[in-house]
Amino acid sequence: MTKIGTLAALALLAATSVHAAVTSKDWGTGPDGKAVELYTVTDGDLTVTITNFGAHIVSIEAPDRAGKKADVVLGYKDLDGYLAEKKAYLGAVVGRYGNRIAKGVFTLDGKTYQIPTNNNGNALHGGTVGFDRKVWSSKTLADGVELTYVSADGEMGFPGTLTAHVKYTLEGRSLHIEYSATTDKDTVLNLTNHSYFNLGGEGSGDILGEKIMINADRYTPVDAGLIPTGKLPSVKGTPFDFLKPTAIGARIEANDEQLKIAGGYDHNFVLNGGKELHVAAKVEDPKSGRTLTVTTTEPGVQFYSGNFLDGSATGVGGKPYVKHDGFCLETQHFPDSPNHPAFPSTELKPGQVMRSTTIFTFGVAK
Ligand code: GLA
Repeated sequence: MTKIGTLAALALLAATSVHAAVTSKDWGTGPDGKAVELYTVTDGDLTVTITNFGAHIVSIEAPDRAGKKADVVLGYKDLDGYLAEKKAYLGAVVGRYGNRIAKGVFTLDGKTYQIPTNNNGNALHGGTVGFDRKVWSSKTLADGVELTYVSADGEMGFPGTLTAHVKYTLEGRSLHIEYSATTDKDTVLNLTNHSYFNLGGEGSGDILGEKIMINADRYTPVDAGLIPTGKLPSVKGTPFDFLKPTAIGARIEANDEQLKIAGGYDHNFVLNGGKELHVAAKVEDPKSGRTLTVTTTEPGVQFYSGNFLDGSATGVGGKPYVKHDGFCLETQHFPDSPNHPAFPSTELKPGQVMRSTTIFTFGVAK
């Protein structure tokens, strides 16, 4: 190529390739006196903020069909909001075991373990003090941030020192979340992100009009304590059939035992697709035109319609969050897997590396 040709090619490259920019600022002090940071990652027209306290996603600014930006996840305005958090887990990474373990009890290699219970006699999201309450160590990357938490052997009753990494990176309109973990003793784990989405913008009202497709032929019904019964029935002919895009609110009040138990959707869907990346769900907000596509390597997704949001948490925009103001799509292994040998295994052994990826892609409907 001639010199001029090379320069022209470089100029074209500079004009067309947009790279993520990452900044960080001091965000206060965590419960154990450790420094908390707020990271801002921008790529093109998507801006995400993340804190190393509980590895929370704090905000995601995405444009609507007119190019107008809004924060499409529920969150608090400052660290105090996250420190005071009681039970919503807005944007947190939950662990060591996301979702429920029945009675907090499981057996591994013939030994019984007890996790402190915090949800109607069951252990939820890792017990009384989960990974969402910890200050993670952090490392700035060219296109995001990598967070690390080392959970001591016996913490919250779980066996083995677990070293967990969560990498958040931005690539255009896609937020990649890569989880990895190692252990020094046999253990169980289930890591996921607990963001609540509202594609109309946080504080803009309920999400019942947003249309969702969930790529699942089956789901895991639950008992009164929201523990899977172990059955994997077909969604056909039930309000759990989201194979075709359907408004979240279209059947949420249906006379269905499962919807009544949970006060709406709060169920694990068994995803169609193997261990490689597959589409878990697609959501479209007909009003703003914003769309979200969730892709994952995980076998399940917890679709939760924000049933327990009760107005006790005030959001970043000053509005209290009430029932159905956001929905979660928690990509995961199935709840209570340590007590269900037929479910995909959540065990990790020394020498193995647990790897899992979830991608949230934001777009605009035509
Ligand atoms: C998960 C659970 C819900 C609820 C939320 C947190 O989604 O399945 O039942 O506990 O976490 O409020």
